[in-house]
Amino acid sequence: MRQKEQSRMIEVLIRARYPILYVVSWEEPRVTEMLIEIGKRGQKKVFEWSCSGGIVPAGTHVQAVKMRDAGTKDPLVALNQVTEELEPAIYIFKDFHPFLAKSNFSVIRKLRDISQNLKSSYKTLVLISPFLQIPPELEKDLTVIDFNLPDIEELGILLDRVCEEVKDNPKIKIDLDASGREQILKAALGLTLAEAENVFAKALVTGGKLDSDDIGEIFAEKRQIIRKTGLLDYCEPELEFDDIGGLASLKQWLVRRKLAFTDNAQAFGLPAPRGVLLLGVQGCGKSLCAKAVSSIWQLPLLRFDVGKMFCSLVGSSEDNIRRAISVAESIAPCILWVDEIDKAFGNLSSGSTDSGTSQRVLGTFLTWLGEKTSPVFVVATANNIKILPPELMRKGRFDEIFFVDLPDIKERHAIFDIHLRQRDRDPEKFNLEKLAASSEGFSGAEIEQAIISALFDAFYAKRELSDDDIMQALVETVPLYRTMEEEIEGLRDWCLTRARSASVHQETIATQARRHLELE
Ligand SMILES: Nc1ncnc2c1ncn2[C@@H]1O[C@H](COP(=O)(O)OP(=O)(O)O)[C@@H](O)[C@H]1O
Ligand SMILES: [Mg+2]
Repeated sequence: MRQKEQSRMIEVLIRARYPILYVVSWEEPRVTEMLIEIGKRGQKKVFEWSCSGGIVPAGTHVQAVKMRDAGTKDPLVALNQVTEELEPAIYIFKDFHPFLAKSNFSVIRKLRDISQNLKSSYKTLVLISPFLQIPPELEKDLTVIDFNLPDIEELGILLDRVCEEVKDNPKIKIDLDASGREQILKAALGLTLAEAENVFAKALVTGGKLDSDDIGEIFAEKRQIIRKTGLLDYCEPELEFDDIGGLASLKQWLVRRKLAFTDNAQAFGLPAPRGVLLLGVQGCGKSLCAKAVSSIWQLPLLRFDVGKMFCSLVGSSEDNIRRAISVAESIAPCILWVDEIDKAFGNLSSGSTDSGTSQRVLGTFLTWLGEKTSPVFVVATANNIKILPPELMRKGRFDEIFFVDLPDIKERHAIFDIHLRQRDRDPEKFNLEKLAASSEGFSGAEIEQAIISALFDAFYAKRELSDDDIMQALVETVPLYRTMEEEIEGLRDWCLTRARSASVHQETIATQARRHLELE
């Protein structure tokens, strides 16, 4: 949703007398400014409260001590004042979340009373906080709004202001045409207004100029900032489909959707793709495909670290997933890669103590996946289907579920070819037929490891790599398949009826028919 639409939506909620809004955002000044505008249009006073300053008219400089009413620093006193005020008003309460903790029962109760009172008044209470913490008692009284990061238009206004401020400085040169400007603004998507301002200012100060050469620098800064959130990683597109052996059916599916996010595709009547779930044996190219989609589609790739989501150091898990989604949406169109999603939600069925949180986080993710309108394409991968929550597989979440199996002989041939080439060896000089035939049950990762191990042997023996070295390495390897045959067979059986094969070979007409029968 664009900033203007979001502002309009909030205005509608206020006019419709929704009593308490809970805005989740790091950007207090941006939200406050928007509410002041809304207040002006609706002829309402706007006040802000913080535990350090009490209630003051919104936009008041903190230093204006005289304006402060020290008594209202106390949240209960402040809430009382809200009830007593008769005129139409918007009250912005900043960082109120600590007072919503379970132990503050009187504050929670007071909010419930106020909510009744406000419904029949022209007053609205708006809580702004970077974290979403709602006590269950208040769930029905609060309306939660995830405030979007700035869109291109807002960043444009900021950029103009930053440029305007330095325009009389002879040491700084600004040379931006329309396309350079757009590229800079696009590069800054995903940042808060304050972060973008710092990035623009830094680019200006370091080079003494602002032109399209700064795009790289802005991207690099953004990578840093996004990485600091601890959950998302901005990956460089580095892989092509030619670097992946086999998986022809999956590749074809992805290639056909390459232009799906363009206006033309929309005009043609195509829905924007939501995402794919790649299930399968470890080391067979799932992560590889996720990375390759980004370069094939030429869209930025954000890797979401699900392991860190439940790490309390980076904040509460629910805030983490909301923040990740919000950054992804502001960068859209983009690809959100959720690697090894089984690791995040695998503990749901185990009944561990954390499963309540996991369930809520999964709920947030699934709701978003089902309802999202922004062009964020999700690529999720999983190795262990046994622990995956069934909700994830339900229709309407992903466009397709693919099963990535161990490579067949033709695919292994291709994988040997790719990895020999990647190590500057001419595949023509090797007997790929024989190697492929001798590596039955090997994953792509194991084939790669065998080549590396053979290279070590050859190097040690001071000779060039030969078929024999690789054959020897294959003999010495115990592929995962041999130790985990039962699990892998189980996975195959399971996927046969629930997922589409990523390779062409296995999807025979018989299995297709079987899958369709079982789906019906
Ligand atoms: N189909 C394949 N083609 C080429 N290399 C592969 C293939 N599958 C696996 N590999 C090699 O194995 C490594 C691990 O594969 P990865 O995609 O991470 O497996 P996973 O399916 O577990 O995500 C890759 O970096 C790549 O070098
Ligand atoms: Mg992987």
